[in-house]
Amino acid sequence: MSFVIRFAKTEDLESIRAIYNNAVKTSTATLETDERDITAQRHWLAQHNGDPYPCFVAEDRDGIIAGWASLSPYNAKPGYRGAAENSVYVDTRAQGQGIGEALLQALLDDAPQRHIRTIVALISTDNLPSVSLHEKLGFRLIGTLERVGEKFGRDVDVSIFQWHLR
Ligand SMILES: CC(C)(COP(=O)(O)OP(=O)(O)OC[C@H]1O[C@@H](n2cnc3c(N)ncnc32)[C@H](O)[C@@H]1OP(=O)(O)O)[C@@H](O)C(=O)NCCC(=O)NCCS
Repeated sequence: MSFVIRFAKTEDLESIRAIYNNAVKTSTATLETDERDITAQRHWLAQHNGDPYPCFVAEDRDGIIAGWASLSPYNAKPGYRGAAENSVYVDTRAQGQGIGEALLQALLDDAPQRHIRTIVALISTDNLPSVSLHEKLGFRLIGTLERVGEKFGRDVDVSIFQWHLR
């Protein structure tokens, strides 16, 4: 699939929301259980305008948003300002075509200009595609929080992965 990676715009709001809400409903990719409404999504996008936390989207040649990736604060305390947590979500119809990798790579390439020098990924241990993607791009396993989450009536282990700017 041919696609471009660019910064998210307000017009992308509904596409970002639809891709995220599908993961909320169907997977442990996020431990969120309530779908995000349009007001919350608008607020979220305003907080990911690149100052300093960005949101990138992958747009296909028909103008359809196939995925998105973002950085968010790792911790609100000022001493953590050089650290961020990442998210990456690809539409189920577009997975396995290099989009997630391109989105995550865009986040890593962009991080230095936002003075972010380390990125933390919290990944449900059963999410093998995400584990593999993050390891491929240089994230290293720090450890696993056992049964720290719960979704769909079962316990979820969450692994902490970390990437450092060289
Ligand atoms: C995880 C996710 C973002 C990967 O995006 P994608 O566009 O499907 O992945 P890509 O085609 O770019 O693949 C890049 C790498 O990811 C890994 N990967 C992707 N799909 C995989 C699969 N089904 N099984 C194992 N590894 C997989 C591989 O390392 C792959 O590299 P390779 O092609 O050299 O083997 C995507 O599956 C997704 O959106 N999943 C649901 C949401 C989610 O889990 N987000 C992460 C929350 S922590």
